[in-house]
Amino acid sequence: MKKLVIGNWKLNPATAIEAVRLAKATDVEGAVLCPPDIFLMQVGETIKKASLGAQDLFWKDAAAVTGEASAVQLKQIGVLYVIVGHSSRREELKETDELVNLKVKAALAAKLKVILCVGEDLDIHKQGEVKTRAFVLEQLKRDLDGVSGGENLIVAYEPVWSISTSNTNLVDTPEEASIMIRYIKDESSKMGFDKVPVLYGGSVDSKRAKDFLSRGIIDGVLVGKASLNAEKFKQIISLV
Ligand code: PGA
Repeated sequence: MKKLVIGNWKLNPATAIEAVRLAKATDVEGAVLCPPDIFLMQVGETIKKASLGAQDLFWKDAAAVTGEASAVQLKQIGVLYVIVGHSSRREELKETDELVNLKVKAALAAKLKVILCVGEDLDIHKQGEVKTRAFVLEQLKRDLDGVSGGENLIVAYEPVWSISTSNTNLVDTPEEASIMIRYIKDESSKMGFDKVPVLYGGSVDSKRAKDFLSRGIIDGVLVGKASLNAEKFKQIISLV
């Protein structure tokens, strides 16, 4: 399988004009673009080679719920991938593993490809490898509880302390990330998710990407900040 490069635009850009411009500039084979929901349609209509991804979904269809988007709604505008359980949602919106689990199930039932984000925060990271592994394993178990048929499941290991920190020294190394990704693959396989692709995310830019993507164990990268810079993002894609 070709390695995946996912661009998570988060709450950017500010305008539809900029969103369309960025989509045009990064419309390359192998890229998955995840704009905010408000720009999904325009980005979807703009791209010809890249795939469309959403940053989240709600787990029910046609419900009396305000301000959400369902799997069915996302699918009908051409969304193929959906990020679930991103650390920013777990932190800012207090999204629990129980909610993440409902979202994973809803997305898989709708045949969307799920990018499930897991990863420890700095506090846990500082407590060492045993604690970190236990935390990530618990997240995986809770998020995937009762989930079957994982052929559309992708996991992204994103150590929270390494996200958006490329200008500080606090970044995960490809060596450390590879060890955790090996562990995630082994444990996922024990849970019945054989051969689940596992990506790395956390301050991947055009300089760091090569080190991560050259590791056989890492099946791709989830890119935040650098996905907003067309040149940098295309450099990353050119590596896969
Ligand atoms: P970053 O974001 O590349 O800006 O660190 C990654 C992510 O949050 O998915």
